[in-house]
Amino acid sequence: MADINTDVLIIGTGPAGSGSAALLASYGVETMVINRYRWLANTPRAHITNQRTMEVLRDLGRDVEDEAYLFATGQDLMGQNVFCTSLAGEEIGRMRSWGTHPVSRAEHQLSSPSHMNDLPQTFMEPLLFKTACSRGAQARMSTEYIRHEQDADGVTTTCRDRLTGAELTVRSKYLIGADGGNSKVAEDAGLSFEGRMGVGGSMNILFKADLSKYVAHRPSVLYWVVQPGADVGGIGMGLVRMVRPWNEWLIVWGYDINQPAPDVDTAFATKVVRDLVGDHELAVEIQSVSTWTVNNLYATTMQNGRVFCMGDATHRHPPSNGLGSNTSIQDAFNLAWKLSYVLKGKAGPALLDSYQRERAPIAKQIVTRANKSIEEFGPIFKALGLLDSIDPVKMQQNMDARCDDTPAAETQRAAIRQAIAAKVYEFDAHGVEMNQRYRSDAVLADGEPEPAFEKDAELHYQPTTWPGARLPHAWIFADDGAKASTLDLCGKGRFTVLTGIGGRGWVEAAKLLGRELGLDIEAHIIGPRQRWQDLTGDWANLREVRDSGVVLVRPDQHVCWRRETIARDPMAELRRALSFVLAL
Ligand code: FDA
Repeated sequence: MADINTDVLIIGTGPAGSGSAALLASYGVETMVINRYRWLANTPRAHITNQRTMEVLRDLGRDVEDEAYLFATGQDLMGQNVFCTSLAGEEIGRMRSWGTHPVSRAEHQLSSPSHMNDLPQTFMEPLLFKTACSRGAQARMSTEYIRHEQDADGVTTTCRDRLTGAELTVRSKYLIGADGGNSKVAEDAGLSFEGRMGVGGSMNILFKADLSKYVAHRPSVLYWVVQPGADVGGIGMGLVRMVRPWNEWLIVWGYDINQPAPDVDTAFATKVVRDLVGDHELAVEIQSVSTWTVNNLYATTMQNGRVFCMGDATHRHPPSNGLGSNTSIQDAFNLAWKLSYVLKGKAGPALLDSYQRERAPIAKQIVTRANKSIEEFGPIFKALGLLDSIDPVKMQQNMDARCDDTPAAETQRAAIRQAIAAKVYEFDAHGVEMNQRYRSDAVLADGEPEPAFEKDAELHYQPTTWPGARLPHAWIFADDGAKASTLDLCGKGRFTVLTGIGGRGWVEAAKLLGRELGLDIEAHIIGPRQRWQDLTGDWANLREVRDSGVVLVRPDQHVCWRRETIARDPMAELRRALSFVLAL
């Protein structure tokens, strides 16, 4: 007999674990989440929060999304990505990042009802955790996962209560390993990985200091510092990262992974801070220091039977591009509704196989992208002439050369501009954040080929209702003055049918099928004199079906099927699609 019974046991209260608990609790699934520590993240780690993640928070509730904005640093203060010799020293260049370039800003605004922002993990985790617990999730802190065993009906997990030392067993129908980059659940479940851990060494120095005079005129979350040693280990360059404007900061500085990790005491940390700020009198309050390794590893399997892993447990990579926590929360969005449907008997267990099919390619993509972004600092060092010598005097001379009135200096200046501009793949990669298209048995193709990307798929989001893609966002309007995103009509644990004038047959089919299959299917006709109207025509331009056609949307807001026009028997067609997607 197990000590505790629950439907889903989640190991870890990070973004993946707390996100899963919040979603499962919102769907009415009995769940329990444990953490080996007594509380949540104690350092700010993740911060860049992209639009897709904010859409997940919005799906949890407008109150959840709004609370995130309340604690976040807004997008307008994020974007002057600075490259300099120190904060007090010479500025070499700047790039507008995180959707703050006017062109990119327009793309962001057209793509989503939600905004990118900077929300440190010390705020994100409590928000997700509170949402989970207030909606019914059980949480047990100071409780460590030890091992698990699964059989045909469930999983028995052994944990240790770290306050008493006593072991306890939890019996659950499913187990989620959201236990981070050293995941024991993934190891015990025998998941397979590709890549390498420990490809670089890095340290975090968290400190308080008022740096307003160096930064307030060029607000940014990231200030990149070129100094001797800045290209060793780490994440490509010395980094001074804003945690709270402008008096709380995190420095990321590398070390040679082939050497032992340095002993980062207060004196050493203070020196690094003062060097990178360029102010040797600066009053600094060091809050914490830690060393960590840069990883380049992704899971090729994310499931073993009733055990699923997500987040850093399955994608281990540097913070470049700010994708870790975002992807972790998005993993949770993919799996939670599937578990809910299977547990409630509304889908066949085979639906769960689609989690790995859909998310493993994303894990590979983001790990590869983040590591590539480190390499892409190389051309900046090269253009500055910093790779030709390790003599600081010679390095300075090479950098100074760019100010000369010579053809060679003009060429050097162009190379520097070009190298900085190429960092758009790290600091404004909207396509990486938004273009996730799934291929699996939880998506029913409509026979149309996948639309090719017209622009660079890493930089630009391209909306499509091609089955597998995220539903495109368009604002739609009601007579009472209400305004909603097409995404707002969907989600919340339900399937949604979107159609137009001539598509009443789909709405009726959704109602009848909902009753037949025991599903809560939302259905909306978007058109004149309907509750929601496409007054700007944006939805008509995006939906890629005719007025009488249909777009069927999964609870995670991905399109799973569509049809160009009304069918002769809408009920039979919708039944075919839903039965396929839900593995019934
Ligand atoms: P995470 O590691 O956060 O949580 C794991 C949880 O499991 C913890 O609660 C832990 O206590 C628990 N646990 C582990 N073992 C256990 C056991 N045996 N028993 C019980 N509990 C156990 N990401 C991003 O999206 N945007 C960004 O801007 C950045 N920036 C950034 C900067 C820096 C400096 C770093 C180091 C990292 C980032 N990241 C990031 C990455 C981000 O922090 C990371 O991807 C997420 O925290 C991963 O979330 P998870 O929930 O998967 O694991």
